[in-house]
Amino acid sequence: MKVSVKVPATSANLGPGFDCLGLALPIYNTVTIDETVLPGTGVEINILAQDESYDDLIIDHIPRDENSIVYKAVELLYNSIGQTPSELKINIQTTIPVTRGLGSSAAVIVGALMAANHLLGEPADESAILSIATEIEGHPDNVTPAVVGGLVLSSMEDDGSILYRKIHWPDEWAIIVCIPDVELATEISRSVLPETVPLQDAVYNTKRMGMLIQAVNTVDDELMKAALSDKLHQPYRSKLVPWMDEISESIKHDDDILGCVLSGAGSAVLVVAKQSAVDKAKSKISEVMNNLNVKADIKSLKVENNGATIINA
Ligand code: HSE
Repeated sequence: MKVSVKVPATSANLGPGFDCLGLALPIYNTVTIDETVLPGTGVEINILAQDESYDDLIIDHIPRDENSIVYKAVELLYNSIGQTPSELKINIQTTIPVTRGLGSSAAVIVGALMAANHLLGEPADESAILSIATEIEGHPDNVTPAVVGGLVLSSMEDDGSILYRKIHWPDEWAIIVCIPDVELATEISRSVLPETVPLQDAVYNTKRMGMLIQAVNTVDDELMKAALSDKLHQPYRSKLVPWMDEISESIKHDDDILGCVLSGAGSAVLVVAKQSAVDKAKSKISEVMNNLNVKADIKSLKVENNGATIINA
């Protein structure tokens, strides 16, 4: 039997929602698991990059041995029902650029878990899939929208369960993603964060997070402009991603462009604009990147409301 799962990219944090807010985007990885292989062949993991511009990066960054996150996901799922994976061929078709803060690792973890779960007759429910994926990833902000789609607020609770709610993203607001031709590994981007933060910075983010949820729910442009800001991670990471502050600066006086935030741990940034301002926002971003002499792919994307989907079985 063979099963394929298509999983969307995700952008985590959205400024103030560090490690708890994320949204799904229409760029996809597909994980296929084939169990009709010869006995004794073990677990084989193959990666096929579909986006030529990122070929080497994608292939280099997804480890193929049994310690890889893909193998770990499959193994944890089998272990959860008292089994061990033996002969499996796992193919991963990738179009999500890696080390850009677009949830490529969450997508392969979720794809592998859901494909293996389907092969085993669906022993794990959504909440078990979310818990296992978060255990591997370390935080739920990418894996939850990868599983359920949309804009999602999520939390790993003390018992390991994932509490989440989907929040409707307004059609009035466009998302523009600027994906620089620059790698930034999540471990490096997390290594610059402090262990503790000043109380006033925590208070600042608490306020922005409340503003963001209210702004999204009521499509409040002014509130969203104030909300798309952060003191818990972006200030520490800004040296690694100089385009983030430059883009923020270039759009700050524009009424129709609501803000610029780091996408996940970077290196991509995400800009929120009114639909009418998409072209203007793209040309401002492009100007900043050209001035910095950094090549970048600048895309306007809709929020993907569907999460991971089994596409054949
Ligand atoms: N919330 C995570 C971070 C997302 O900002 O490090 C990237 O994995």
